[in-house]
Amino acid sequence: MRYYGGKYRIRKDLWKILNKEAEGRVFVDLFCGACNVVEGITTATKRIANDNNPYLISMFKEIQDGWEPPENVSREMYNRAMNYQYDDALNGFILIGCTYGGGFRSGYAHSAGERNYAKDAKKTLLKQKTKLADAEFVCRDYNNIEIPEGAVVYCDPPYKDTCLKYYDSKFDYDRFTDWCESNKNRYKIFVSEYKKNEKSDWETVYERKSYTCVCKNLNSRKSTVEILQKAV
Ligand SMILES: C[S@@+](CC[C@H](N)C(=O)[O-])C[C@H]1O[C@@H](n2cnc3c(N)ncnc32)[C@H](O)[C@@H]1O
Repeated sequence: MRYYGGKYRIRKDLWKILNKEAEGRVFVDLFCGACNVVEGITTATKRIANDNNPYLISMFKEIQDGWEPPENVSREMYNRAMNYQYDDALNGFILIGCTYGGGFRSGYAHSAGERNYAKDAKKTLLKQKTKLADAEFVCRDYNNIEIPEGAVVYCDPPYKDTCLKYYDSKFDYDRFTDWCESNKNRYKIFVSEYKKNEKSDWETVYERKSYTCVCKNLNSRKSTVEILQKAV
């Protein structure tokens, strides 16, 4: 499913690095979004997928329980979901899967010709279903989740200096950095960011050229460099 800030493009690289780290440990995807990363973690003893968007988490839980989202979503349905008139899972599916650029509530993505956003999102989610069958979904602020000592914690928070097309449109970067600093000796913490926001005192374990959406026009892209840092 197309997801704003999703790691689909670099997911295989991240799986390689994080699967080595997660061997025999609990793996936590603290900002799981569309679950592009946690779905490929196969070595952990347990997987926890957390996000503070209740609609997104309900959607994944319902998929785990056998729900199948609709294949067509009209503008009328989109407008109803904007007023939260469906159950949480369907509101989530429509407000994420059927929007431009995969941002939350970021405009009805009109399906035309071959392109059917609802059908594509449904297909991706059903593909993920088996890969996520035993994942534990949690909906909390990242600061408020129980994590066992020694766990591998992957963090893909909203990036600094980007527009926040998420359920929560604010993110306090200093509070997040403080959380990493306070917890880096309890867990192995890995953080995704852009190269331009690299922290000089953390270890950069991966970097790759990539693309990002342009804030004002989610269909345009500009080049960037993605990094993965370990909080040390
Ligand atoms: C960059 S996206 C994650 C993308 C995900 N890694 C993927 O590949 O699909 C960031 C996520 O952080 C979530 N988020 C934002 N603030 C949060 C918070 N305080 N606690 C937990 N999750 C939060 C957003 O809802 C969003 O899904």
